[in-house]
Amino acid sequence: MPNHRYIYSFKYDHHHNELCKLESRQIFAIEEKNNLLFSNIKVDPSISPFIKNRFEIISSSEDYSKLLKNIKKHNIHIDGFKAEYLILDGDSSGYADRLNKLRDIGYSIEGAPDYYTPSIIYSICNYKNIWYFGILIKHNTDWHKHKNKPCSFSNSLGKNIAKTLVSIASNGNKTNQLLDACCGVGTVMLEACFSGFNIEGCDINLKAINHTRENLAHYNYTANVYHSDIKDLDKKYDAVIIDLPYNLYSYSNDTITLNIIESATKLASRIVIVSISDIETLIKKSGLKISDFGSVEKRGKLKFTRNIWVCEKESNVDLYENNTKS
Ligand SMILES: C[S@@+](CC[C@H](N)C(=O)[O-])C[C@H]1O[C@@H](n2cnc3c(N)ncnc32)[C@H](O)[C@@H]1O
Repeated sequence: MPNHRYIYSFKYDHHHNELCKLESRQIFAIEEKNNLLFSNIKVDPSISPFIKNRFEIISSSEDYSKLLKNIKKHNIHIDGFKAEYLILDGDSSGYADRLNKLRDIGYSIEGAPDYYTPSIIYSICNYKNIWYFGILIKHNTDWHKHKNKPCSFSNSLGKNIAKTLVSIASNGNKTNQLLDACCGVGTVMLEACFSGFNIEGCDINLKAINHTRENLAHYNYTANVYHSDIKDLDKKYDAVIIDLPYNLYSYSNDTITLNIIESATKLASRIVIVSISDIETLIKKSGLKISDFGSVEKRGKLKFTRNIWVCEKESNVDLYENNTKS
């Protein structure tokens, strides 16, 4: 019997396949498979655009009647609960069967149920002939409201990528301090603030900064936004996210790109870089080690691919710096 505490279920469009797999590798150190992942790592499902639910396993058994006995042993007594059946890949139980199982769960819990505003959702699911009972935490879809942010920009990141960049950069850890180094209109910052991450932003362009501030204020989010060239920041962060200028609306070349990346390496040891060009050689030139990679196609009128590199500062780079300082 698998010895995990959580079952995560995923939902995503085919064109986000690579992005979702990159995110799950970075949060859980394994890829989701068939929209499913078992893990002992606890994360809020709402930090990811792709995680639909977190199922916290309370009891499991190959024998359904044994599972019911186990549930009763827990003596759960709670008002306002709801029971939901979670259909996982490979579970072909019919509707009537699922309804009967929900009734069994309901009778195994003491208290008055509340179907519309439950205080807790208990759930049952079956995977590879094992029955699981647990608590279901659902994804909060309220972040979709960011679609109507007051200030937008044709080249802003999509909110799915923005959200994923935050979960990748932080590894899902909300205590990490993040920087959105080229924040533009603040698409990444909105997603970080919504999920309760510590993030600050910076952009060399005053108009962009004002737009970011207006967007954050619109949703009552508070975060520091600096009107600055990244090279002039001197704070330390756990991770920096860089959505590099695309040379479409703001001018860029290899020297500018390298300067931005090298400046970021002075602020954090973990850097997540987005670019529509292949800048792997430049990344390596900056002394960073690429630990993971994924790409996602931008759909719409203007089609291009966004590449995402997860980079770490090589420890020997630190050693080199320390040696030269002494
Ligand atoms: C591709 S845009 C970022 C878009 C942003 N992620 C969004 O979704 O709105 C790149 C941004 O980098 C900023 N930028 C360029 N060079 C910079 C530098 N040296 N320091 C800080 N920001 C810089 C530009 O002003 C531009 O807003």
